[in-house]
Amino acid sequence: MNAEKPDRNLAIEIVRVTEAAALAAARWQGLGRKEDGDQAAVDAMRKMLETIEMDGTVVIGEGEKDEAPMLFNGEAVGTGRPPQVDIAVDPIDGTRLLAEGRPGSLAVLAAAPAGTMFDPGPCVYMEKLVVGAEAAEAVDLDRPLVDNLRAVAAAHDKELRDLTVIMLDRDRHEEAKRQVREVGARLQLITDGDVAGGILAAWDERPEVDVLYGIGGTPEGVITACAVKALDGQILGRLWPRNDDERRAALDAGYDLDQVLTADDLVDSEDCFFSATGITPGQLVNGVQFRGKGAITQSLVMRGKSGTVRLITARHRFEKLRRYASVDY
Ligand code: FBP
Repeated sequence: MNAEKPDRNLAIEIVRVTEAAALAAARWQGLGRKEDGDQAAVDAMRKMLETIEMDGTVVIGEGEKDEAPMLFNGEAVGTGRPPQVDIAVDPIDGTRLLAEGRPGSLAVLAAAPAGTMFDPGPCVYMEKLVVGAEAAEAVDLDRPLVDNLRAVAAAHDKELRDLTVIMLDRDRHEEAKRQVREVGARLQLITDGDVAGGILAAWDERPEVDVLYGIGGTPEGVITACAVKALDGQILGRLWPRNDDERRAALDAGYDLDQVLTADDLVDSEDCFFSATGITPGQLVNGVQFRGKGAITQSLVMRGKSGTVRLITARHRFEKLRRYASVDY
């Protein structure tokens, strides 16, 4: 047997980063100010990232799609000492959910060894199909959606009418919605947040959702892949250019737009780490709960290599934190 000494689990440290972002962002719940909420999360995330012993580079920065304030692609984060890691950030997945005071927004961060995260180039969106471990081998994005739904139902030993498909509620999904309904499966439509949707599909502790399908952000796809690897599930993706210019730019840059990308293509290492902290209350994790002089957070923290999944509930004491922390609690 190839026995290794227990080594470092970076996820246990990055959870402090997503907690800080969630705590800062939660103050903006329902205030209708998307940019301010995002800025608060980015600022807190940046400050907390400085404390982590790593030589990190942001390779997936949120923001290009909606011109949000960024943790820039190429930005160095961490103390600058090894290990060298790629960092994917989504300070708020569901900025609109937060601004409108709706459930399901998360602060998310993923890490993997340097050079292992997929570079989506000019492609902002991808088609995604996410399933858990039971159905990981049963899906194939080159097959019609209804065939995949049948295969997932069979893998779960379920009738199709008991299968739940989660999908972003978008006009571009009209045909997919029609097919889900036609085959007789259940549909859960979400207004935003397909990272949470993907994890709900992949995590057997949340059996109310079996499949995520639809076109969503490519950055969110790479981040979801880190979580899916820890859960032994599968994410299949295909780049989805929004228009001819994007298609041309992707082809010129050498992307194969027909290629089906797997979790391994999106993150080419098992040694990946994921943390998500709830901002508004959600189906995946609780949101931030403010109490007298502090707050409670709940985070989902995972490591690909070990497959360890932790739900971490933390109590934060503002009067103590404010004595020394540079993060504005
Ligand atoms: P942001 O909060 O970063 O805007 O992302 C929310 C989100 O719903 C993602 O979860 C999803 O991948 C993407 O937007 C879908 O894009 P669009 O809203 O343009 O359809």
